Amino acid sequence: MTNSANHSAAYIPSSQSITVLSPATVANMVCGFDILGFALNEPNDELTVSISDQPGVEIINQDDFDLPTDAEKNVSGAALLAMLEECPDIKGFRLLSNKQIKPGSGIGSSAASAAGPVVAANHLMGNRFSKEDLVRFAMFGEKVASGVKHADNIAPAIYGGVTLIRSIFPLDIVAIDAPPLHVTIVHPQIEVRTADARQILKQNVLLRDAIKQWGNIAGLVAGLIQHDYQLIGRSLEDVIIEPVRSILIPGFNDIKSSCKEAGALGGGISGSGPSIFMLSETAETALAVESAMQSVYNKIGLDYHTHVTTINTTGVKIK
Ligand code: HSE
Repeated sequence: MTNSANHSAAYIPSSQSITVLSPATVANMVCGFDILGFALNEPNDELTVSISDQPGVEIINQDDFDLPTDAEKNVSGAALLAMLEECPDIKGFRLLSNKQIKPGSGIGSSAASAAGPVVAANHLMGNRFSKEDLVRFAMFGEKVASGVKHADNIAPAIYGGVTLIRSIFPLDIVAIDAPPLHVTIVHPQIEVRTADARQILKQNVLLRDAIKQWGNIAGLVAGLIQHDYQLIGRSLEDVIIEPVRSILIPGFNDIKSSCKEAGALGGGISGSGPSIFMLSETAETALAVESAMQSVYNKIGLDYHTHVTTINTTGVKIK
């Protein structure tokens, strides 16, 4: 971890700004609740940061989401304030936020808000902090959003690719060398609050379920590293969280079974929902999976949005 107190001050003109594309992410990756996540190439939030002579963090929203502009109550603001604490040579930051990732969608909207600004600010300050430091700052933003510090969206947003959070305290992030994967996401237009979706989880787990779950997590990580699509598919099973949370998502079981029939390797709830994601080996299958999702929600009569994309291997990008 970087000891920021020793960073020498570089002169940064306050007019200079950096714009980043901060990616949507899928947390949990089915069996890896709070420990496995991956970044997406689409959609992205566009965030512009500059150094300010005013103390604190000024937030200017350029989208229609009406997010708080009080930095302490704002996900980006909380992350930048945590960073400022370790930058004695910087008075403040100014953030222009143009979010494309709808808050509450389950594809890491809050993580994109937290990760993008700290990556942009770090560039402005000569990259004085490590990626692990940036995850640490961004987790303050995630805490504003869900009440808990978890990094399974933030780490992939910053590192790119698939990441394993072996531990949060202390932070231990492992980048997983995954094979190319196509991702199909359906976002039913209902709201599931992460805090509620965490509240309903059971606090105790049966040993036989735990054994199944850790077998699947180990199988998934091995499958990703060995680029073994069949092993990945077999391991995409969650016997602990999904049975509880899926009741919050209309049509969940039908979506899952029809996507598998369409050729998906497997998938599940994206983050805390309501989005559902599916992984496929080819772009063609990912599109067939999108049609399967559409036909289930058309039948139910529920509005939805879909995304067909791939894994973003670089994380937050400078625009
Ligand atoms: N791992 C988190 C959860 C992601 O499932 O609650 C949601 O932000």
